[in-house]
Amino acid sequence: MSSSPSAQHLAAILPSKAAGAFQVTHRPTPTPGPDDLLIQVKSIALNPIDYYQRDYGFGPLDHYPTVLGSDIGGTVISAGASVPSDAPQPGTRVAAFAPCFFTKGLPDYGAFQTRVLVPAANVVPLPPKMSFNKAALLPMAVITTWSGWYSIGLPRDTAYTAADKKGMLVWGGASSIGSTAVQVAKSMGFSVYVTASEKHGEYLKGLGASQVFDYKSEDVVEKIVKAAKADGVTIQAGYDAVGQVKSCLDVLKEFKGEGTLKLATTVPPTEDTPKEEGVEVKFVAGPEDEEERTEHFHFVFGVWLKEKLEKGEIVPSPKILVLEGGLESIDKGLNELKKGVSGVKLVLEV
Ligand SMILES: NC(=O)c1ccc[n+]([C@@H]2O[C@H](COP(=O)([O-])OP(=O)(O)OC[C@H]3O[C@@H](n4cnc5c(N)ncnc54)[C@H](OP(=O)(O)O)[C@@H]3O)[C@@H](O)[C@H]2O)c1
Repeated sequence: MSSSPSAQHLAAILPSKAAGAFQVTHRPTPTPGPDDLLIQVKSIALNPIDYYQRDYGFGPLDHYPTVLGSDIGGTVISAGASVPSDAPQPGTRVAAFAPCFFTKGLPDYGAFQTRVLVPAANVVPLPPKMSFNKAALLPMAVITTWSGWYSIGLPRDTAYTAADKKGMLVWGGASSIGSTAVQVAKSMGFSVYVTASEKHGEYLKGLGASQVFDYKSEDVVEKIVKAAKADGVTIQAGYDAVGQVKSCLDVLKEFKGEGTLKLATTVPPTEDTPKEEGVEVKFVAGPEDEEERTEHFHFVFGVWLKEKLEKGEIVPSPKILVLEGGLESIDKGLNELKKGVSGVKLVLEV
Protein backbone atom coordinates (compact mmCIF):
# COMPACT_ATOMS: atom_id res chain seq x y z
CA MET A 1 0.00 0.00 0.00
CA SER A 2 1.40 3.45 -0.80
CA SER A 3 -0.09 6.78 0.17
CA SER A 4 -2.06 8.68 -2.46
CA PRO A 5 -0.69 12.16 -3.27
CA SER A 6 -3.64 13.75 -1.48
CA ALA A 7 -3.33 11.68 1.71
CA GLN A 8 -3.06 13.57 5.00
CA HIS A 9 -2.25 12.50 8.53
CA LEU A 10 -2.12 14.14 11.96
CA ALA A 11 1.12 15.66 13.28
CA ALA A 12 2.31 17.72 16.24
CA ILE A 13 4.08 20.55 14.44
CA LEU A 14 6.65 22.93 15.92
CA PRO A 15 5.94 26.11 13.95
CA SER A 16 9.24 27.92 14.53
CA LYS A 17 12.58 27.71 16.36
CA ALA A 18 12.19 27.31 20.15
CA ALA A 19 8.43 27.87 19.83
CA GLY A 20 7.91 26.04 23.13
CA ALA A 21 4.64 24.31 22.13
CA PHE A 22 3.28 22.13 19.35
CA GLN A 23 0.21 22.58 17.13
CA VAL A 24 -1.62 19.39 16.22
CA THR A 25 -2.84 19.57 12.65
CA HIS A 26 -2.96 17.63 9.38
CA ARG A 27 -0.04 17.51 6.98
CA PRO A 28 0.59 15.69 3.69
CA THR A 29 1.60 12.05 3.98
CA PRO A 30 4.94 11.51 2.17
CA THR A 31 5.91 8.69 -0.17
CA PRO A 32 9.05 6.82 0.92
CA GLY A 33 12.39 7.69 -0.68
CA PRO A 34 14.42 4.75 -2.09
CA ASP A 35 15.89 3.68 1.29
CA ASP A 36 12.91 4.64 3.49
CA LEU A 37 9.95 2.92 5.07
CA LEU A 38 6.64 4.71 5.65
CA ILE A 39 5.42 3.69 9.11
CA GLN A 40 1.98 3.93 10.71
CA VAL A 41 2.87 5.14 14.18
CA LYS A 42 1.11 3.50 17.14
CA SER A 43 3.24 4.55 20.13
CA ILE A 44 5.73 7.35 20.73
CA ALA A 45 8.24 7.61 23.59
CA LEU A 46 9.51 11.00 24.77
CA ASN A 47 13.19 11.91 25.20
CA PRO A 48 15.04 14.86 26.78
CA ILE A 49 16.25 16.03 23.35
CA ASP A 50 12.60 16.65 22.39
CA TYR A 51 12.22 19.47 24.92
CA TYR A 52 15.75 20.79 24.26
CA GLN A 53 14.60 21.21 20.66
CA ARG A 54 11.06 22.41 21.43
CA ASP A 55 12.14 25.01 23.98
CA TYR A 56 15.69 26.02 23.08
CA GLY A 57 16.06 25.21 19.39
CA PHE A 58 18.86 22.75 20.24
CA GLY A 59 20.63 20.96 17.40
CA PRO A 60 21.00 21.75 13.76
CA LEU A 61 17.31 22.19 12.88
CA ASP A 62 17.10 23.94 9.50
CA HIS A 63 13.53 23.15 8.48
CA TYR A 64 10.59 24.96 10.08
CA PRO A 65 7.77 24.19 10.61
CA THR A 66 9.23 20.92 11.80
CA VAL A 67 8.15 17.67 13.42
CA LEU A 68 10.33 16.45 16.29
CA GLY A 69 10.68 13.10 18.03
CA SER A 70 12.74 9.93 17.66
CA ASP A 71 11.17 6.86 19.27
CA ILE A 72 8.27 4.92 17.79
CA GLY A 73 6.52 1.58 17.66
CA GLY A 74 4.29 0.99 14.64
CA THR A 75 3.57 -0.94 11.45
CA VAL A 76 5.30 -0.61 8.08
CA ILE A 77 2.90 0.73 5.44
CA SER A 78 5.16 0.89 2.36
CA ALA A 79 8.80 0.57 1.35
CA GLY A 80 11.07 2.54 -1.01
CA ALA A 81 12.40 0.99 -4.20
CA SER A 82 15.90 0.20 -2.83
CA VAL A 83 14.88 -1.22 0.56
CA PRO A 84 16.50 -4.68 0.75
CA SER A 85 14.26 -7.73 0.93
CA ASP A 86 15.64 -8.69 4.36
CA ALA A 87 14.45 -5.36 5.85
CA PRO A 88 10.99 -5.19 7.47
CA GLN A 89 8.33 -5.25 4.74
CA PRO A 90 4.80 -3.72 4.66
CA GLY A 91 2.62 -5.17 7.42
CA THR A 92 5.55 -5.82 9.79
CA ARG A 93 5.30 -4.55 13.38
CA VAL A 94 8.47 -2.59 14.19
CA ALA A 95 10.33 -0.28 16.55
CA ALA A 96 12.07 2.56 14.70
CA PHE A 97 14.40 5.50 15.28
CA ALA A 98 12.98 8.50 13.43
CA PRO A 99 15.93 10.63 12.29
CA CYS A 100 14.63 14.18 12.77
CA PHE A 101 17.99 15.06 14.36
CA PHE A 102 20.07 13.69 11.46
CA THR A 103 17.81 15.21 8.77
CA LYS A 104 18.08 18.61 10.52
CA GLY A 105 14.35 18.69 11.15
CA LEU A 106 12.92 17.56 7.79
CA PRO A 107 9.30 17.24 8.94
CA ASP A 108 8.59 13.92 7.19
CA TYR A 109 11.20 12.29 9.47
CA GLY A 110 10.03 13.31 12.98
CA ALA A 111 8.25 10.83 15.27
CA PHE A 112 5.48 13.12 16.55
CA GLN A 113 2.95 12.24 13.85
CA THR A 114 0.80 9.31 12.86
CA ARG A 115 2.81 8.51 9.70
CA VAL A 116 6.56 8.93 9.48
CA LEU A 117 9.42 8.15 7.12
CA VAL A 118 12.32 6.21 8.60
CA PRO A 119 15.40 4.79 6.82
CA ALA A 120 15.14 1.00 6.69
CA ALA A 121 18.49 0.79 8.55
CA ASN A 122 16.84 2.35 11.65
CA VAL A 123 14.11 -0.26 12.02
CA VAL A 124 13.81 -3.58 13.87
CA PRO A 125 10.98 -6.13 13.62
CA LEU A 126 9.19 -6.94 16.88
CA PRO A 127 8.58 -10.28 18.54
CA PRO A 128 4.85 -11.15 18.25
CA LYS A 129 4.05 -10.49 21.90
CA MET A 130 5.84 -7.17 22.31
CA SER A 131 3.46 -4.21 22.59
CA PHE A 132 4.02 -1.03 20.57
CA ASN A 133 4.31 0.89 23.84
CA LYS A 134 7.23 -1.26 24.98
CA ALA A 135 8.79 -1.20 21.51
CA ALA A 136 8.91 2.60 21.57
CA LEU A 137 11.31 2.48 24.54
CA LEU A 138 14.03 0.77 22.55
CA PRO A 139 15.36 2.82 19.62
CA MET A 140 16.94 5.91 21.28
CA ALA A 141 18.22 3.93 24.25
CA VAL A 142 19.77 1.12 22.21
CA ILE A 143 21.41 3.35 19.57
CA THR A 144 22.75 5.70 22.27
CA THR A 145 24.25 2.79 24.18
CA TRP A 146 25.96 1.48 21.05
CA SER A 147 27.09 4.96 20.03
CA GLY A 148 28.76 5.09 23.45
CA TRP A 149 30.66 1.90 22.68
CA TYR A 150 31.55 3.37 19.26
CA SER A 151 32.90 6.56 20.90
CA ILE A 152 35.20 4.64 23.24
CA GLY A 153 36.22 2.08 20.62
CA LEU A 154 34.72 -0.94 22.37
CA PRO A 155 34.69 -3.72 19.75
CA ARG A 156 31.25 -4.95 18.66
CA ASP A 157 32.22 -8.54 19.25
CA THR A 158 33.33 -8.02 22.87
CA ALA A 159 32.37 -11.23 24.65
CA TYR A 160 34.00 -11.70 28.04
CA THR A 161 33.31 -14.58 30.37
CA ALA A 162 32.95 -14.29 34.14
CA ALA A 163 36.49 -15.67 34.45
CA ASP A 164 37.87 -12.60 32.62
CA LYS A 165 36.75 -10.41 35.56
CA LYS A 166 36.15 -7.33 33.38
CA GLY A 167 33.97 -4.61 34.83
CA MET A 168 31.87 -1.78 33.38
CA LEU A 169 30.65 1.19 35.44
CA VAL A 170 27.20 2.55 34.49
CA TRP A 171 26.33 5.82 36.26
CA GLY A 172 22.60 6.59 36.21
CA GLY A 173 21.26 3.06 35.77
CA ALA A 174 17.60 4.02 36.31
CA SER A 175 17.60 6.32 33.29
CA SER A 176 16.36 5.15 29.94
CA ILE A 177 19.86 5.12 28.45
CA GLY A 178 21.53 3.77 31.60
CA SER A 179 19.14 0.84 32.08
CA THR A 180 19.78 -0.18 28.48
CA ALA A 181 23.56 0.25 28.82
CA VAL A 182 23.39 -2.12 31.81
CA GLN A 183 21.74 -4.78 29.66
CA VAL A 184 24.09 -4.38 26.71
CA ALA A 185 27.22 -4.36 28.89
CA LYS A 186 26.01 -7.51 30.64
CA SER A 187 25.38 -9.18 27.27
CA MET A 188 29.05 -8.52 26.39
CA GLY A 189 30.16 -10.34 29.51
CA PHE A 190 31.05 -7.41 31.78
CA SER A 191 30.36 -7.41 35.49
CA VAL A 192 28.27 -4.25 35.63
CA TYR A 193 28.57 -1.86 38.60
CA VAL A 194 25.66 0.56 38.54
CA THR A 195 24.49 3.65 40.41
CA ALA A 196 20.81 4.46 40.98
CA SER A 197 18.40 5.39 43.76
CA GLU A 198 18.04 2.55 46.22
CA LYS A 199 14.44 1.85 45.15
CA HIS A 200 15.62 0.78 41.67
CA GLY A 201 18.26 -1.68 42.91
CA GLU A 202 16.35 -4.95 42.50
CA TYR A 203 14.96 -3.94 39.11
CA LEU A 204 18.45 -3.19 37.81
CA LYS A 205 19.83 -6.46 39.16
CA GLY A 206 17.05 -8.14 37.17
CA LEU A 207 18.43 -6.41 34.05
CA GLY A 208 21.93 -7.72 34.71
CA ALA A 209 23.61 -5.33 37.16
CA SER A 210 26.14 -7.15 39.36
CA GLN A 211 25.74 -4.60 42.14
CA VAL A 212 23.79 -1.36 42.48
CA PHE A 213 24.95 1.60 44.59
CA ASP A 214 22.89 4.55 45.79
CA TYR A 215 24.44 7.59 44.11
CA LYS A 216 23.11 9.81 46.92
CA SER A 217 25.35 8.07 49.44
CA GLU A 218 28.41 10.20 50.32
CA ASP A 219 30.87 7.33 49.99
CA VAL A 220 29.36 5.83 46.82
CA VAL A 221 32.69 5.98 44.95
CA GLU A 222 34.57 4.15 47.73
CA LYS A 223 31.82 1.53 47.91
CA ILE A 224 31.97 0.78 44.18
CA VAL A 225 35.77 0.54 44.16
CA LYS A 226 35.81 -1.69 47.23
CA ALA A 227 33.09 -3.99 45.84
CA ALA A 228 34.77 -4.47 42.45
CA LYS A 229 38.16 -5.11 44.05
CA ALA A 230 36.60 -7.61 46.46
CA ASP A 231 35.12 -9.37 43.40
CA GLY A 232 38.57 -9.39 41.77
CA VAL A 233 37.11 -7.36 38.90
CA THR A 234 38.94 -4.62 36.97
CA ILE A 235 36.58 -1.86 35.89
CA GLN A 236 38.02 -1.03 32.49
CA ALA A 237 35.42 1.37 31.10
CA GLY A 238 32.46 3.50 32.11
CA TYR A 239 29.17 4.70 30.67
CA ASP A 240 27.97 7.94 32.23
CA ALA A 241 24.29 8.17 31.29
CA VAL A 242 23.48 11.33 33.25
CA GLY A 243 26.46 13.73 33.13
CA GLN A 244 28.40 12.73 36.26
CA VAL A 245 31.91 12.65 34.81
CA LYS A 246 33.72 13.60 38.04
CA SER A 247 32.27 10.69 40.01
CA CYS A 248 32.95 8.26 37.16
CA LEU A 249 36.57 9.42 36.93
CA ASP A 250 36.94 8.99 40.69
CA VAL A 251 35.97 5.33 40.27
CA LEU A 252 37.95 4.65 37.11
CA LYS A 253 41.21 6.16 38.38
CA GLU A 254 41.37 3.42 41.00
CA PHE A 255 41.64 0.83 38.20
CA LYS A 256 44.45 2.41 36.20
CA GLY A 257 46.74 -0.21 34.79
CA GLU A 258 48.57 -0.74 31.53
CA GLY A 259 46.18 0.75 28.97
CA THR A 260 44.04 3.89 28.85
CA LEU A 261 40.67 3.62 30.56
CA LYS A 262 37.65 4.93 28.67
CA LEU A 263 34.53 6.78 29.76
CA ALA A 264 31.58 7.50 27.46
CA THR A 265 29.34 10.36 28.60
CA THR A 266 25.91 11.24 27.18
CA VAL A 267 26.22 14.90 28.16
CA PRO A 268 28.64 16.98 26.06
CA PRO A 269 31.86 17.67 28.01
CA THR A 270 32.83 21.34 28.36
CA GLU A 271 36.11 23.09 29.25
CA ASP A 272 35.12 22.74 32.90
CA THR A 273 34.58 18.98 32.71
CA PRO A 274 37.08 17.32 35.08
CA LYS A 275 40.01 15.44 33.57
CA GLU A 276 42.05 12.52 34.83
CA GLU A 277 45.34 11.37 33.36
CA GLY A 278 45.04 7.88 31.93
CA VAL A 279 41.25 8.11 31.47
CA GLU A 280 39.86 9.22 28.12
CA VAL A 281 36.43 10.90 28.25
CA LYS A 282 34.39 10.71 25.04
CA PHE A 283 31.01 12.24 24.24
CA VAL A 284 28.53 9.59 23.11
CA ALA A 285 28.12 10.03 19.37
CA GLY A 286 27.87 7.62 16.47
CA PRO A 287 29.78 7.98 13.19
CA GLU A 288 29.67 11.42 11.54
CA ASP A 289 30.12 10.05 8.03
CA GLU A 290 26.67 9.28 6.61
CA GLU A 291 27.60 5.96 5.02
CA GLU A 292 29.35 4.76 8.16
CA ARG A 293 26.40 5.95 10.27
CA THR A 294 23.95 3.98 8.12
CA GLU A 295 26.09 0.87 8.61
CA HIS A 296 26.21 1.56 12.39
CA PHE A 297 22.41 1.86 12.55
CA HIS A 298 21.94 -1.23 10.40
CA PHE A 299 24.21 -3.22 12.70
CA VAL A 300 22.45 -1.98 15.84
CA PHE A 301 18.84 -2.43 14.66
CA GLY A 302 18.97 -4.88 11.77
CA VAL A 303 21.53 -7.28 13.26
CA TRP A 304 22.20 -6.91 17.00
CA LEU A 305 18.79 -5.83 18.35
CA LYS A 306 16.89 -8.08 15.94
CA GLU A 307 18.74 -11.12 17.28
CA LYS A 308 18.50 -10.06 20.93
CA LEU A 309 14.73 -9.52 20.64
CA GLU A 310 14.25 -12.85 18.88
CA LYS A 311 16.16 -14.60 21.68
CA GLY A 312 14.45 -12.56 24.42
CA GLU A 313 17.89 -11.36 25.59
CA ILE A 314 16.99 -7.67 25.90
CA VAL A 315 13.88 -6.06 27.35
CA PRO A 316 12.59 -2.52 26.86
CA SER A 317 13.55 -0.51 29.96
CA PRO A 318 12.92 1.26 32.29
CA LYS A 319 9.21 1.06 33.17
CA ILE A 320 6.45 2.70 31.08
CA LEU A 321 4.13 5.53 32.05
CA VAL A 322 1.42 5.94 29.40
CA LEU A 323 0.09 9.48 28.87
CA GLU A 324 -3.56 9.91 27.89
CA GLY A 325 -4.44 12.20 25.00
CA GLY A 326 -2.33 11.15 21.99
CA LEU A 327 -0.39 13.83 20.11
CA GLU A 328 -2.15 16.54 22.13
CA SER A 329 -0.40 15.26 25.28
CA ILE A 330 3.17 15.69 24.00
CA ASP A 331 3.63 19.18 25.44
CA LYS A 332 2.35 18.08 28.85
CA GLY A 333 4.55 14.97 28.74
CA LEU A 334 7.67 16.94 27.83
CA ASN A 335 6.96 19.39 30.65
CA GLU A 336 6.84 16.39 33.03
CA LEU A 337 10.07 14.98 31.61
CA LYS A 338 11.76 18.37 31.98
CA LYS A 339 10.88 18.41 35.69
CA GLY A 340 12.54 14.99 36.00
CA VAL A 341 11.35 11.39 36.01
CA SER A 342 12.56 8.44 38.07
CA GLY A 343 12.88 5.02 36.46
CA VAL A 344 10.10 5.57 33.89
CA LYS A 345 9.79 6.47 30.23
CA LEU A 346 6.79 8.52 29.10
CA VAL A 347 4.88 6.98 26.20
CA LEU A 348 1.77 8.06 24.31
CA GLU A 349 -0.51 6.14 21.96
CA VAL A 350 -1.68 7.57 18.63
N1 LIG B 1 24.58 11.88 23.37
C1 LIG B 1 23.47 11.37 22.92
O1 LIG B 1 23.38 10.93 21.77
C2 LIG B 1 22.28 11.26 23.82
C3 LIG B 1 21.17 10.51 23.40
C4 LIG B 1 20.11 10.35 24.28
C5 LIG B 1 20.12 10.98 25.53
N2 LIG B 1 21.18 11.75 25.85
C6 LIG B 1 21.23 12.43 27.18
O2 LIG B 1 21.37 11.39 28.15
C7 LIG B 1 20.80 11.81 29.37
C8 LIG B 1 19.89 10.71 29.90
O3 LIG B 1 18.74 10.58 29.07
P1 LIG B 1 17.56 9.60 29.48
O4 LIG B 1 16.48 9.74 28.51
O5 LIG B 1 18.15 8.25 29.75
O6 LIG B 1 17.15 10.27 30.88
P2 LIG B 1 16.01 9.90 31.91
O7 LIG B 1 15.53 8.50 31.72
O8 LIG B 1 14.99 10.98 31.89
O9 LIG B 1 16.83 10.01 33.27
C9 LIG B 1 16.16 10.01 34.48
C10 LIG B 1 16.99 9.23 35.48
O10 LIG B 1 18.23 9.88 35.71
C11 LIG B 1 18.70 9.42 36.96
N3 LIG B 1 19.63 10.39 37.56
C12 LIG B 1 19.48 11.73 37.61
N4 LIG B 1 20.55 12.27 38.24
C13 LIG B 1 21.37 11.25 38.60
C14 LIG B 1 22.62 11.17 39.26
N5 LIG B 1 23.25 12.26 39.71
N6 LIG B 1 23.17 9.95 39.41
C15 LIG B 1 22.56 8.84 38.96
N7 LIG B 1 21.37 8.85 38.33
C16 LIG B 1 20.78 10.04 38.15
C17 LIG B 1 17.46 9.28 37.82
O11 LIG B 1 17.71 8.15 38.62
P3 LIG B 1 16.93 7.80 39.97
O12 LIG B 1 15.51 7.56 39.55
O13 LIG B 1 17.64 6.59 40.43
O14 LIG B 1 17.08 8.99 40.87
C18 LIG B 1 16.33 9.08 36.81
O15 LIG B 1 15.72 7.80 36.90
C19 LIG B 1 20.07 13.15 29.07
O16 LIG B 1 20.90 14.21 29.46
C20 LIG B 1 19.94 13.11 27.56
O17 LIG B 1 19.84 14.39 27.00
C21 LIG B 1 22.26 11.91 25.04
